[in-house]
Amino acid sequence: MLWNGLAVLQIVLVLCHGALAEKMLRPKFKDIKIWSEEKMVSHKVVYDHADPHLNFSMEVHQELQDVDIHLEARISNKLDPTYTTTLNTTINICRILNFANKSPVGRFVHGFIREYGNIIDTCPIPKGSYFINKFWWPEDPTTAILPEFDFEIFYQANLLDASKKRTLIMNDHFTGEFTVQDVNNLKPGIFAMLPKTA
Ligand SMILES: *[C@@H]1O[C@H](CO)[C@@H](O)[C@H](O)[C@H]1NC(C)=O
Ligand SMILES: *[C@@H]1O[C@H](CO)[C@@H](O)[C@H](O)[C@H]1NC(C)=O
Repeated sequence: MLWNGLAVLQIVLVLCHGALAEKMLRPKFKDIKIWSEEKMVSHKVVYDHADPHLNFSMEVHQELQDVDIHLEARISNKLDPTYTTTLNTTINICRILNFANKSPVGRFVHGFIREYGNIIDTCPIPKGSYFINKFWWPEDPTTAILPEFDFEIFYQANLLDASKKRTLIMNDHFTGEFTVQDVNNLKPGIFAMLPKTA
């Protein structure tokens, strides 16, 4: 019952949002460079500006024992580059999955992404096709008061073998900017994140 009520509310919000343009801070990608070790994986990333969403697809050609992702991101205020935030971290996919499968928060986040396609959920990662289609995060117009940003995201995936030797299998680099745009296709806010069925 509660979920039905929320679903109706969500529809009302979507309809209202559809009716008028709102200011929204949205990314524009300037450059997307992707590379993969084609013997092991192939992958593709596409972004649609008009109806904002990302599609990610990946074909795993041979079982991957263990995978680390090194992620670096830099976000800087266009008006004042001294306001720069950087992220530089390495995460192990298999450890994350272990966490995702055991903790409620992990299951929630994993479940949210899972709705968008077929995502990795076990290690070793079996051969097969994985994808995330029409992925977008819930938007909230209040964030439009933030200043505009340039961003740069860079990640490398490494295969770890039994002796912990690393082999580069993916190397992607994205640059772009977050600008305030007038949109009339706001992606619904936090209600969209609630589970669809009780
Ligand atoms: C992303 O995938 C969806 C579903 O397959 C498709 O409708 C959409 O056109 C794709 N977007 C891009 C930018 O290719
Ligand atoms: C990120 O961290 C690694 C290892 O600590 C370091 O080698 C690299 O230079 C750092 N990258 C940046 C952009 O600071």
